[in-house]
Amino acid sequence: MALQGVIDALKKAKLDEIGIAFSLADIMRDIQINGTEVKLVLFSPSEKYYDFLKQKAESVLKELGVTSVEVEFTGQPPAKRQQQPPQPPPQMNPFEQRRRIPKVKKVIAVSSGKGGVGKSTVAVNLAAALKEMGYSVGYLDADMYGPSGPTMLGAKDKTVTAKRTEQGEILIAPEAHGIKFMSIGLMLPSEDTPVIWRGPVLFKALNQFLFDIDWGDEELDFLIIDLPPGTGDVQITLGQVAEIDGAIIVTTPQDVALIDVKKGIQMFNEVEIPVLGIVENMSYFVCLETGKAYEIFGKSKTEEIAKQYNTKLLGKIPIEPKVAEFSDLGIPIVIAKPDSDSAKAFKSIAENLIKQLSI
Ligand SMILES: Nc1ncnc2c1ncn2[C@@H]1O[C@H](COP(=O)(O)OP(=O)(O)OP(=O)(O)O)[C@@H](O)[C@H]1O
Ligand SMILES: [Mg+2]
Repeated sequence: MALQGVIDALKKAKLDEIGIAFSLADIMRDIQINGTEVKLVLFSPSEKYYDFLKQKAESVLKELGVTSVEVEFTGQPPAKRQQQPPQPPPQMNPFEQRRRIPKVKKVIAVSSGKGGVGKSTVAVNLAAALKEMGYSVGYLDADMYGPSGPTMLGAKDKTVTAKRTEQGEILIAPEAHGIKFMSIGLMLPSEDTPVIWRGPVLFKALNQFLFDIDWGDEELDFLIIDLPPGTGDVQITLGQVAEIDGAIIVTTPQDVALIDVKKGIQMFNEVEIPVLGIVENMSYFVCLETGKAYEIFGKSKTEEIAKQYNTKLLGKIPIEPKVAEFSDLGIPIVIAKPDSDSAKAFKSIAENLIKQLSI
C-alpha cells in the first residue's frame, strides 16, 4: 500500500459531519503501513468522536484495499491544528543577494534613459582617461542588445577564450588600448546578428558577464559597465545581483532626454545604486573659425535637474565630429586627440569620479 495513496484518501475524507473543518489527514498524528495493514494515530479533542473517526478511517481505507485498519487517538493537537492565520513569508530583501564583482575595486555603471545620447562613447572614453591616469581599467559592454564596445575599442577581431576552473567556466577578457574588456559582441557570429534575450537566458548571460570573467592577474581599479539604454531588465538585474559603487547618467541637453534622466535617477534610487552624477554630452559645438560656442540643443537644464535630484553635473562634452570619426576607427578620442576639448572634458570627468570614489 503506497503511503501517498493512503494520505490522499485521508485528505479527501472531510469531517463536516461533526462540524470540523478538517480532513482525516489534517488530524493524523502518525501512520504506519505494513502491506495492506494500516495503523493510524488521530487527534481527537474528545472521546465522543472516537467511533465516528474510526469508522470514517476504516471506510475510506478499506475502499483503497486496506485489509486491516487500527486506529489510536491522542488528545494532543497536531502541529497543523494550530489555527493561526497563515504567516506571510518574511520580506525578502531583493538586494541581499548582491555580490561584489571579484578582483575589482570600484564598479561604475554608465547608463542613459534614452538611446543614442553617447553612453558608450562616454563609457569607453572614461575607461581610456582612467587608464591614461595610470589606473588599471576594465570595460564591460553590457549592452546585450546592441553592443558597440568592440567597434569603439577597435577590437572586433579579438577572440574570447575560456578556461575551466573550480568555480566553472571563466571567460578571459582580451585587451585593447591597455583596457581589459568584454562584450557580447565578441561572441556573436556577426555584427548585425539580432539578439533576443528571454528572461532567464539574459539573467544567466549577465551573471556570467559580471562574475565569471578573468580580468587579469592584477586587480582592476575600475570596471566601467556600459548599459543598454532605458530602465529595463539589465539595469534591474544588475542592481539585484551586483554591488555597484555608482552610476553615471548620460544625457543630451534636450528636454526629451532630460525626462529620461529623471526616470533613470529614480530607477537607480529604487535599486539602491548611488548616482555619482550626470554627464551632459553634445552640449555645444565650437565653430572652428570663430571659436564661438553654439548650444545646438538649446539652453541646458541639466544642472537644474541634477540639483533637483540631489546629484551633480559631472561635466559637459562638446559635439566634435572627431569624437565620432575616431570612435568608428576604434580609437577613443582621449587617446587619439588628447588635446581636444572633448578629451579634456572626459579627463576632467574622470578626475571628478576619482575624487568622489576616493580611490
Ligand atoms: N560628443 C560627441 N561628438 C560627436 N559625436 C558623438 C559625441 N558623442 C557621441 N557621438 C556619436 O554619436 C553616436 C551615438 O553615440 P553612442 O553609440 O556612444 O551612444 P549610445 O548612447 O551608447 O547609443 P545606444 O543607446 O545605441 O547604446 C555615435 O556615432 C558616436 O560616435
Ligand atoms: Mg551604446
